[in-house]
Amino acid sequence: MLCGKMPNSRFNHQVRSLRITKLCNSKDIVTINGMFPGPVVYAQEDDTVIVRVSNLSPYNATIHWHGVRQRLSCWFDGPSYITQCPIQAGDTFTYNFTLVQQKGTLFWHAHISWLRATVHGAIVVHPKSGVPYPFIFPYQEHVIILGEYWLRDIPRLEQAVLASGGPPPPADAFTINGHPGPNYNCSTNDVYDVVAVPGKTYLLRLINAALNMEVFFAIADHKFTIVEADAEYTKPFTTDHVMIGPGQTLGVLVTADQPIGTYSMSMGPYMSARNVLFQNTTAIAYFRYLGALPSSLALPASLPSFNNNLAVKTVMDGLRSLNPAVDVPKQIDADLFVTIGLNVNLCHSRTPQQNCRGPNGGVFAASMNNISFIKPKISLLEAYYRRISGYYTEDFPGLPLEFYDFVNGAPNNSPNDTQSLVGTRTKVVEYGTRVQLIFQDTGTVTTENHPMHLHGYSFYVVGYGIGNYDPKTANFNLVDPPYMNTIGVPVGGWAAIRFVADNPGVWFMHCHLDIHLSWGLGVVFIVKDGKGELESLPHPPADLPRC
Ligand code: C2O
Repeated sequence: MLCGKMPNSRFNHQVRSLRITKLCNSKDIVTINGMFPGPVVYAQEDDTVIVRVSNLSPYNATIHWHGVRQRLSCWFDGPSYITQCPIQAGDTFTYNFTLVQQKGTLFWHAHISWLRATVHGAIVVHPKSGVPYPFIFPYQEHVIILGEYWLRDIPRLEQAVLASGGPPPPADAFTINGHPGPNYNCSTNDVYDVVAVPGKTYLLRLINAALNMEVFFAIADHKFTIVEADAEYTKPFTTDHVMIGPGQTLGVLVTADQPIGTYSMSMGPYMSARNVLFQNTTAIAYFRYLGALPSSLALPASLPSFNNNLAVKTVMDGLRSLNPAVDVPKQIDADLFVTIGLNVNLCHSRTPQQNCRGPNGGVFAASMNNISFIKPKISLLEAYYRRISGYYTEDFPGLPLEFYDFVNGAPNNSPNDTQSLVGTRTKVVEYGTRVQLIFQDTGTVTTENHPMHLHGYSFYVVGYGIGNYDPKTANFNLVDPPYMNTIGVPVGGWAAIRFVADNPGVWFMHCHLDIHLSWGLGVVFIVKDGKGELESLPHPPADLPRC
């Protein structure tokens, strides 16, 4: 670069309340700049993004830049009590990070309690000027954010659910860019639509910002082609549906090549767990051809049924990196095996009717290697950086404490044998460690597809399968595995990821279903500094919030 100065993209984000009316009900929601979904953060590859976040809401807040790899900028990652204390009401914090070699679709969201339900928006990173997409140049691009909407106030709902020890209630509606569409009460006109010019090709940037639901997406009578997943190009894969878990993003191309008309874009549930109450309805947006009569009936899209695991697998099988993955680690230094799943803990409340509404009078929990993560009272990154002891331990085990048939032989006599251990345990790794991690779903309470997300890195998804992981029979793809930041671990199955731990800091890894995160399905990696400035975490910013 000639002038030696990085191009900047600057934004002002005000966290504030907005009164909205949906489904015939009004309530106050927390937003950024009074927008729902929030404003799109547009940038280019290698841009430095500077976002001043002022908290004008009554709640503590932080913003996480989901999928941004935060090279040497862990202080700006955003998960509350992991890399920073919350921005308190009335305070301001400026996030500053660079999109090093990143382009595509990501998103930002609040990373504290369940505020993410309404505090979220897209990050769209275009290639550098003059660099084309590796696919046909779309006539237009549209951000399509899939969400869940509750009539109840979100902070109160969260408090009530966590105090109950029981499961969360289903959302009252699914939404597409904030609009539920005609299947819901009072929503005939509360519909998002994309106007399509016949013959043109559109890039849809799909983002699942829902709190607790994995979902299917389909467009009536149109196939579409996946060209990007988690902001990394993929080999083009054409399908008529996708499953997308919370935390995942997909770029898909769709061509308006059907007779002029109005076509539904539909979002419906994927529920792989058993005995869970969920919202079994469909949010609809329109893909409306120019020239279609406004009164013309929208053609319905057919979504896979809510428990169609095969429909999930077919798309997963189709996800391949566009180019050969030359940097996928072939040798492994740290080989981790981590079970993921639910627990039911014993009731210790004097008012079990109110507080122990999990199975058999127990309290729901979730865990990794049977340890439920407890959020600390201060920022772990600060505790680590300033060597403040007493807030976390370094003994997260690289293997389960006990081996058994995780999928079919899981303990289920709840709450007697389904307890988890609790703690703020971390896994410490040296700079440059080549990590392989196997996620193994367990059948305690129920097997379920979990969208596992890692902060600070993308990882190669080198393998996955059904049942218990067996190194002797597992098939790995070290040629063109997809490079992702969130992986839906197959229900009753496993997934293997690989990455090189070359970004120093404190990085959260957790299930992106918020209820599971609240129940403890998370762990923290501490990646130590390497040698010299380019391998070490810089000093914290001066305006870092205090707890
Ligand atoms: Cu998008 Cu820690 O999450």
